[in-house]
Amino acid sequence: MIKKLEKSELKEKILVTAALPYANGSIHLGHLVEYVQADAFVRFLKLSGKDVVFVCADDTHGTPIEIAAAKEKIPPEQLIAKYYDDHREDFASFFIDFDVYHSTNSPENKFYSDFFFEKLTEKKLIYQRLVELTYCENCKRYLPDRYVKGKCPKCGAEDQYGDQCEKCNATYQPVDLIEPRCAICGAVPVRKQSLHYFFKLSSFSQQLQQWLDSNDKIQPDVKNFVAEWIKNGLQDWDISRDDPYFGFKIPGELNKYYYVWLDAPIGYIAATEKYSKEKLNQTATAAYWHNENARIIHFIGKDIIYFHFLFWPAMLMGVGLNLPSDLAVHGHLTINGEKMSKSRGNFLTAKDYLAVADHQPEFLRFYYASHLVKAISDINLDFEDFKTIINSDLVSNIANFVHRTLVFINNNFDSRLGDLGDDEKFFLQQLQPKYEAAIKHYSEYNFKEAVRGLLEISSVGNRYFQDNQPWQLVKTDKKKCHGVVTAAANIVKDLALLSLPVLPKYSEKVLRLLGVDGIEKLSFDSLGRRLAGSKIGQSRIFFAPIEETISLAKVFPAVLKVGVIQEITEHPDADKLYVLKVDVGSSKKVQLVAGLRPYYKKDGLLGKKIVVASNLKYAKLRGYESQGMLLAADDGKKVVVVSPQDSVPGDLVFPEGSDAKAILANKTQIAIDEFYRLSLKVKDEKVVYGGKPLRTDKEIISVDAEDDAVVR
Ligand code: 2FM
Ligand code: ZN
Repeated sequence: MIKKLEKSELKEKILVTAALPYANGSIHLGHLVEYVQADAFVRFLKLSGKDVVFVCADDTHGTPIEIAAAKEKIPPEQLIAKYYDDHREDFASFFIDFDVYHSTNSPENKFYSDFFFEKLTEKKLIYQRLVELTYCENCKRYLPDRYVKGKCPKCGAEDQYGDQCEKCNATYQPVDLIEPRCAICGAVPVRKQSLHYFFKLSSFSQQLQQWLDSNDKIQPDVKNFVAEWIKNGLQDWDISRDDPYFGFKIPGELNKYYYVWLDAPIGYIAATEKYSKEKLNQTATAAYWHNENARIIHFIGKDIIYFHFLFWPAMLMGVGLNLPSDLAVHGHLTINGEKMSKSRGNFLTAKDYLAVADHQPEFLRFYYASHLVKAISDINLDFEDFKTIINSDLVSNIANFVHRTLVFINNNFDSRLGDLGDDEKFFLQQLQPKYEAAIKHYSEYNFKEAVRGLLEISSVGNRYFQDNQPWQLVKTDKKKCHGVVTAAANIVKDLALLSLPVLPKYSEKVLRLLGVDGIEKLSFDSLGRRLAGSKIGQSRIFFAPIEETISLAKVFPAVLKVGVIQEITEHPDADKLYVLKVDVGSSKKVQLVAGLRPYYKKDGLLGKKIVVASNLKYAKLRGYESQGMLLAADDGKKVVVVSPQDSVPGDLVFPEGSDAKAILANKTQIAIDEFYRLSLKVKDEKVVYGGKPLRTDKEIISVDAEDDAVVR
């Protein structure tokens, strides 16, 4: 159990967490906003001499993970193991430096989940109640929120999920949906009762409100709507789920599990425990979680406020552990002003970004930091702005100042620093307030202003260099010149120290060039400590400007649309051809002439969904106009028409990761040869273009043909 610490053991400890990513998808640019922010903050705290631990873990439980594993026909353990490695790799490539990266599917998390459950049960804060749930007899499973769809019970909007209507925002239970359908198999679900466990959130209203009122660190933009929720009355919380589920079994139950959101935040404690076991001592977990003199800081996105401002603190209150002392809540990421989504083709994983941005993780860190403040407003990654910020601020201002200073010393003073005269010392002294300002901004999570501070310091450095014209001065007064560039090198050192939270690798390289030792033990205490007389390394250009604005992909030249075959006749003059009338959405019809008669009967095609290349130059085949082409895979043995399942006529089919809007904006008609040159192929029963599968916003297009079958 977590032992309470004595006063003598108290020393301010800080625990920083970032939200645990689900173990069924890759880290993407939206995730990275938070990890970059939290990582930079932790680095800032460490440089300020704080005792801080940065913990995170994979969030491994729940229905989506169980279903994803079942789809891949692998055990969930195998799926989460795959993502564990994948996530760690991405964090490493962006220099997100957790002290421990654990998993919620761990013995430590099982232990603490049971601890919470038992303690809360003992205190009568958990009780059982029968609930009415939607159940699919075909899938043999209860259907939680996202797995049942139907009409909104409030406004009647079609095709809404079981928890909330996207049209009218009403919230309700899955059983309230009108004309419900199983989202997995489409069957009509039945109602079924189950005995569930509830956490008495309702009895914490007052305590939660007091906590909010007494905490002056919590963002006002968040406080307001949490207070609103409390005012409207808190409902008790269903913390159990039925088989099939991937999670921890509830003690004494055969087929009931903790709901993933119960054990996910407990994962913060489990990760601390893991860290303690490996790096510290037995009481270490308590030092962070049961110690009045500890600070717990959670970084989260605005979509999970409810969990972190209500459920989680109430659970902590219930068992008597530390409450978070601060929560930094950020907004969502938009890309070029739009929400990132697979269907828009603007969804970028961490790996995709590295591929399109010249493998420069620190460009993204710098860009994000330049925009981050402690607020829930969204952050826009605009590729024009990105280029400007990187080229003018990072490359032309900071990196240019660093390089011109160091390389001048390399070339003119045999890489040796000189002595600082009184003028130089006085000049450096004047920068001190700017250093302090940057530090203050960091401490307030105001990365945007902190970066602005760095830019000011480097602008001062550039101006100083420019005004003193060392390239002239070296000819007239070499000693003075040496003093000037040594002063500039001292600014470089301080600038690099102050940039470390945002640009950890770059700054480290610069500090190494300056021979600043003990890189591992760097601290802001060395700000203003003067370097003189020592040798420096040979400077290099670490950052080159971005030449071309990032584009999500070279625009795919074909406009492919889902269509449905509505009429079919034999071509009167060609025994291999059919003439088809195809609906390609928004009541647009096209005529296609296709050589499918040797492979398909009319019945096999009528009503079939197909993919149509809709911007081909029209062609005449034996007197009949063909206004496009349908996609079929040919593996030499058979020809199979590519037929989407879940999409509807008019849906765009595009290579994953490409810019769907740009494709749609493309009004040029292409020749058939140009289309053939795209060389669409089958790989793992998917149609791929340049390694990316074709998809719609609803599905990845699959086709039953051998690998390398040609699709045209
Ligand atoms: O929303 C999410 O992505 C969750 N996996 C975050 C969990 S954070 C914590 F509570 F575990
Ligand atoms: Zn079903």
